[in-house]
Amino acid sequence: MAYAITQTCCNDATCVSVCPVNCIRPTPGERDFGSTEMLHIDPATCIDCGACADACPVDAVFPVDSLTAGQREYADINAAYFERTEEEPQPEESPTAVPGPNFHDWGAPAFERVLPPDFGPLRVAIVGTGPAGMYAAEDLLLHTRADVTLVDRLPLAGGLLRYGVAPDHPATKKAGDTFARFHTHPRVQMHLGLDVGGDVSPEELAAHHDAVIYAVGAAADRRLGIPGEERTGSVAATTVVAWYNAHPEVAPDAVDLSAERVVVIGNGNVALDVARILVSDPETLADTGIAPHALAELRRSKVREVVLLGRRGPDHAAYTRSELLALKHLPEVDLIVDDHDPRIGAAIDAAGPQDKAAVLRDVTRETVDWSVSPGAAGRRRRIVFRFLSAPVEIRGDAHVRAVRTTGGSGESDIPAGMALRAIGYRGVPQAGLPFDETTGTVRHENGRVTGTSGTYVVGWIKRGPSGGIGANRACASETVGTLLSDAVAGTLPPPTGGPRAFHRLARRRRRR
Ligand SMILES: Cc1cc2nc3c(=O)[nH]c(=O)nc-3n(C[C@H](O)[C@H](O)[C@H](O)COP(=O)(O)OP(=O)(O)OC[C@H]3O[C@@H](n4cnc5c(N)ncnc54)[C@H](O)[C@@H]3O)c2cc1C
Ligand SMILES: NC(=O)c1ccc[n+]([C@@H]2O[C@H](COP(=O)([O-])OP(=O)(O)OC[C@H]3O[C@@H](n4cnc5c(N)ncnc54)[C@H](OP(=O)(O)O)[C@@H]3O)[C@@H](O)[C@H]2O)c1
Ligand code: SF4
Ligand code: SF4
Repeated sequence: MAYAITQTCCNDATCVSVCPVNCIRPTPGERDFGSTEMLHIDPATCIDCGACADACPVDAVFPVDSLTAGQREYADINAAYFERTEEEPQPEESPTAVPGPNFHDWGAPAFERVLPPDFGPLRVAIVGTGPAGMYAAEDLLLHTRADVTLVDRLPLAGGLLRYGVAPDHPATKKAGDTFARFHTHPRVQMHLGLDVGGDVSPEELAAHHDAVIYAVGAAADRRLGIPGEERTGSVAATTVVAWYNAHPEVAPDAVDLSAERVVVIGNGNVALDVARILVSDPETLADTGIAPHALAELRRSKVREVVLLGRRGPDHAAYTRSELLALKHLPEVDLIVDDHDPRIGAAIDAAGPQDKAAVLRDVTRETVDWSVSPGAAGRRRRIVFRFLSAPVEIRGDAHVRAVRTTGGSGESDIPAGMALRAIGYRGVPQAGLPFDETTGTVRHENGRVTGTSGTYVVGWIKRGPSGGIGANRACASETVGTLLSDAVAGTLPPPTGGPRAFHRLARRRRRR
């Protein structure tokens, strides 16, 4: 009996390094790793030792025979990954091909960083305690003698792990426990509620450290740039997500769920998160870490229908297959595909078994009549997938009344009392750092901020607002590697103040 990897996998590849028979794929060294939505265990090779399950920070790995009803399909998903590659060209047929997942070679461990034996401990400040900042801290603490100052403007550490990941994903939130080990590390000084750029200046921080790593994420929301975006009832997913996670800067009454139909604009995993929370039975959320004010509003909620508006087709939607699968297991919630364009059904029917569109094959298709009230008798709560439709206007008077869309069948209005914009997050400029307005990221070379010495970036402020928790691990590894090379090359500006002085400064300036 093998083990299988399930929904919450965040691709951090911790399991790969502990598997004694190297049967978890793709590995970070393989071409597929950059694009895979999750890792897979080869059931034919797994020796059932359980090491991967013990190591996984988000409880994603289980013995196949203990999978719950909602997880059972993952046994097939894991196995299918290895069947699929048998049909692909083998290395000898294609000299340039990277060996596929069935090529079970053993990779010798690589220790790419060599620090001189007399290399003194560095003092590194990390701004942001989300996954990227914590992977960078972990790398520095485990592989060097560095002292690390962790700074976060919020009163609790964790970044989006604490204030972004949905409350009904407790296993994912558990990754925060893995990072929390380092908060009390003897070489760590942590300052929460300290805003760099507000309470302390970047110059003050730099003056007390050999290097500063900015891991500040992407706090703002992307804008649609269509008429009506500012209308009451048009809300950004950044607000809704922060609201149900009790973010201290979002008011308890920031979200009003008095509309029967909500149009969620966007087809990414955040769109699926907010849609799922809005239609879930609130009692299933009661024992999660959801904010009490959000639970109370969900209990009063009038929402009966959430429309997921995607400008692309079901074959190219931005969400991951595992998050889509999770929607199918929501109790008392119907899923509908709006069949308004023949290309939608055609794409679902043509999808191969591994394609995410195939997940929708057994979902009811109907041409939705938007004039029927979502609260009509006999209807359960439902999520409607409306593909191949882009928003052109958020219509209404003082309040949102409809979202006007355009697509294959021309323009049409979807009546709704709330338009929830889940079209992505966006980085905000950092004082003194070169900012690329197009991508919303700080300019850098392999993590070193362009035109600086001793200043680095990691995570979403470096790569843009994309990728799950685990994607920040390799990103942090690159940034820390660059920082250490600079240190060895002697290009870091020496600090003028010591750690005690910074500690005193931080205590004086801390806001909360
Ligand atoms: C709603 C949502 C749900 C998600 N759910 C999942 C999931 O289930 N599984 C998964 O794998 N991935 C998920 N992700 C993706 C994952 O959260 C990101 O990959 C990850 O959080 C990015 O890490 P980061 O450290 O770059 O940014 P963040 O996590 O945003 O951390 C940035 C930190 O910097 C701090 N900061 C910002 N500015 C300053 C300043 N001036 N001074 C001091 N501190 C500052 C912030 O307070 C914050 O703590 C989700 C993302 C979102 C948006
Ligand atoms: N459970 C999880 O694992 C989890 C949960 C939440 C988030 N995350 C991760 O966090 C990252 C961010 O997620 P996200 O959902 O914020 O971003 P995302 O994956 O980039 O999705 C953004 C969505 O908005 C759409 N969009 C963008 N601009 C638009 C416009 N002008 N009009 C209409 N639609 C528009 C995009 O459509 P196009 O695709 O057509 O551009 C896409 O569907 C992702 O990597 C995600 O996987 C993971
Ligand atoms: S989250 Fe990490 S350790 Fe867990 S299964 Fe996925 S890649 Fe492996
Ligand atoms: S159970 Fe053991 S052998 Fe099987 S995938 Fe996990 S670590 Fe590898």
